[in-house]
Amino acid sequence: MKISGLSTPCLIADINILKANADAMKGILKDSPLQLRPHYKSHKCATIAKWQIENGAIGMTCAKLSEAEDLCDAGIEDILIANQIVDPVKIRRLADLANNCRLTVCVDNIENINALSLAAQSCGSTIGCLIEYDIGMNRCGVIEKEEVLTLAKHISTCKNLVFAGIQAYAGHISHIESLGERKQSTAANYKKLKTLLSYLKEQGIEVKNVSGGSTGTAEIKAADGLYTELQAGSYLFMDATYRLLSLPFKNSLFLLTTVVSQRDGLTVVDAGVKTCGTDQGMPVLYNGTAKEIIASEEHFQIHNYTQNTTVGEKLLLVPAHCCSTINLHDKIYLVDGDKVVDRILITAKGIGK
Ligand SMILES: Cc1ncc(COP(=O)(O)O)c(C=O)c1O
Repeated sequence: MKISGLSTPCLIADINILKANADAMKGILKDSPLQLRPHYKSHKCATIAKWQIENGAIGMTCAKLSEAEDLCDAGIEDILIANQIVDPVKIRRLADLANNCRLTVCVDNIENINALSLAAQSCGSTIGCLIEYDIGMNRCGVIEKEEVLTLAKHISTCKNLVFAGIQAYAGHISHIESLGERKQSTAANYKKLKTLLSYLKEQGIEVKNVSGGSTGTAEIKAADGLYTELQAGSYLFMDATYRLLSLPFKNSLFLLTTVVSQRDGLTVVDAGVKTCGTDQGMPVLYNGTAKEIIASEEHFQIHNYTQNTTVGEKLLLVPAHCCSTINLHDKIYLVDGDKVVDRILITAKGIGK
């Protein structure tokens, strides 16, 4: 089938650019101790996760228990949930899941650690615990190095839990446009993390694993020697927000739309916020530019588009955020030139549990 035969709106990914992005990541990590543990939230496709593992990833990162269940169901053996799981029903599910894969979860609270230990004991499983250390994002995690020590010591006394290391994710730095400024911000975090690791060593705590990093900081993290795992997600598909950073990755993901209405200075397409994530802004046009794009549920109104369009014509958009866009779809069509060569299911699409 040709791209022109696809029903819109739909997601297409250029298979050659996608593979080139994977190669670019391999190149970045080639001489570095950093290993890739890609973030599943970016594509949520079990087929792609398996392909990433076959191509050298040591395991997967994911955001939610439901994503971890989807990955385990697909045969992925090493899974990190890069968030806290605190609901008792979910803790039970987590402990069950840990019987079927090597499962690690983030923690920052003693009561939560105790609950994980009890659940793992009753299921006869072992859960790895990564202590989340807040290095400036102000999301989850503990702030003081002494708190990390207390939690690490506590985990080692808990049955059926293993202290797996530290998560230090600095998401607030990922999208800083200038490489110089990104480096500067990372340097402050580097100092803080180095101090923590030296302190834990002095206290007799061995930290085997430091997990974090993103598409935007991959090159910096590969050089800093502190992190052992890179959690980058967007690098395979990229989006209009990451495109601004001049990274060695190119846009491979596009939203294929159809022009449904056209008049002077206004082009309207059949996609809106129900098929394109706008949490990081409006999508951009693959060809040309526009003065403004306004979104509604099922439409983008493209004002003063520099290209001539006609009703019925197909138009490519580059979503501002690949992760929130993919979550809205059931499948991604892989394309080579103008040919559709495969269709990949988004197996963990929208699962909120
Ligand atoms: C915990 C965690 N790790 C890593 C990432 C990096 O993802 P990306 O490479 O898509 O920026 C994210 C993004 O939100 C995240 O929340």
